[in-house]
Amino acid sequence: MRHYSSDPATGAEQTQNRTAATNPEIANPPALLEVRNLSMSFGLGQSGLLAIDKVSFAVKPGEILGLVGESGSGKSITLRSVLGLTRRYGRVNGEILWKNRDLNKLNNRDLQKIRGREIAMIFQEPMSSLNPLLSVGLQITENLRAHTGLGRAERRKKAIKLLDLVGIPSAAARLGDYPHQFSGGMRQRVMIAIALASEPELLLADEPTTALDVTIQQQILDLILALSREMGMSVIMVTHDLGVAAQTCDRIAVMYGGRLVEVGPVRNILRNPQHPYSIGLLRSVPENVPPRSELYSLPGIPPGLGNRPSGCCFAPRCPVATARCAVEKPDLFQSGEKVSLACFNPQNLLSGTPQ
Ligand SMILES: Nc1ncnc2c1ncn2[C@@H]1O[C@H](COP(=O)(O)OP(=O)(O)OP(=O)(O)O)[C@@H](O)[C@H]1O
Ligand code: SF4
Ligand SMILES: [Mg+2]
Repeated sequence: MRHYSSDPATGAEQTQNRTAATNPEIANPPALLEVRNLSMSFGLGQSGLLAIDKVSFAVKPGEILGLVGESGSGKSITLRSVLGLTRRYGRVNGEILWKNRDLNKLNNRDLQKIRGREIAMIFQEPMSSLNPLLSVGLQITENLRAHTGLGRAERRKKAIKLLDLVGIPSAAARLGDYPHQFSGGMRQRVMIAIALASEPELLLADEPTTALDVTIQQQILDLILALSREMGMSVIMVTHDLGVAAQTCDRIAVMYGGRLVEVGPVRNILRNPQHPYSIGLLRSVPENVPPRSELYSLPGIPPGLGNRPSGCCFAPRCPVATARCAVEKPDLFQSGEKVSLACFNPQNLLSGTPQ
């Protein structure tokens, strides 16, 4: 788990990598990215299917925010919507504030200048995101050509350096190789090298370690952490693995049914979650149960986009739902100093878990 100190003035968690903590401007930086009431629905008009619903969060410089939740909860759509990659599928509403500009108001041409340069993304599927017909060297140098002023020889040198940085052995010799000549873990590293080519200020990492074996997973997480520290890069890390979130993130945002249900510092969310869904997620983690005992699994399945309940989306699975939950949607509110919560009936893991 990362180490923290908190800023009593703002309640904001300060990451270990922050420098010059005595300078109030640095110790209490404004958000780098602020997302306000972001909604995305597939299709247009009344029949549109709402994938994410009024999602709001902020990421500070150098901060690693984990976005966790079950499959289909809207994690990837949230990241893709930040970069304007869901526009063609439907409607995106809300504000995506980046350096005093609302990305949601930018046209595709202006957005293109920010995408891949200031904000880069590692996509969930490395193989389909790499071009199988181009060598990895070309894919990296093309990115450098698009986003930096480097000349040809410098681009080559930097591509080697990047492959080296992400741990590809004999980097110079592998520049001419194609994606299929790399293993799954190596391709994931190549994706990271491409994403990092422009030295982004914010990295959107969508399940960057899924489907990798544990050793490689650890190496890639360590790499992202080291880069965040060295380059002061902020990261939004999508994962369904709370262990990964605990190890890498400063704060965690828990997502369910297209909405954020609990957001706060990693230690608050993992040690004392208050939302019944967060509590259920935590109880499902194998490390949290005694050896040889049955693993807990949340009853039921998340609703599909077409049949989300009109009240709280978690109500059909929630052990402490009340009549109000069936008809009203809870909005996020400040619960305590640093945690935001969307629930009418918050629980306390320490004083009793809902069964
Ligand atoms: N192109 C699409 N058209 C219609 N629905 C879509 C489309 N892409 C995603 N969805 C739906 O939007 C919802 C959110 O999908 P999303 O990919 O964001 O989930 P996720 O949280 O990233 O899940 P996973 O952990 O499986 O990657 C899901 O119900 C999904 O089926
Ligand atoms: S609002 Fe109601 S149904 Fe939703 S999580 Fe809270 S208690 Fe459960
Ligand atoms: Mg996803």
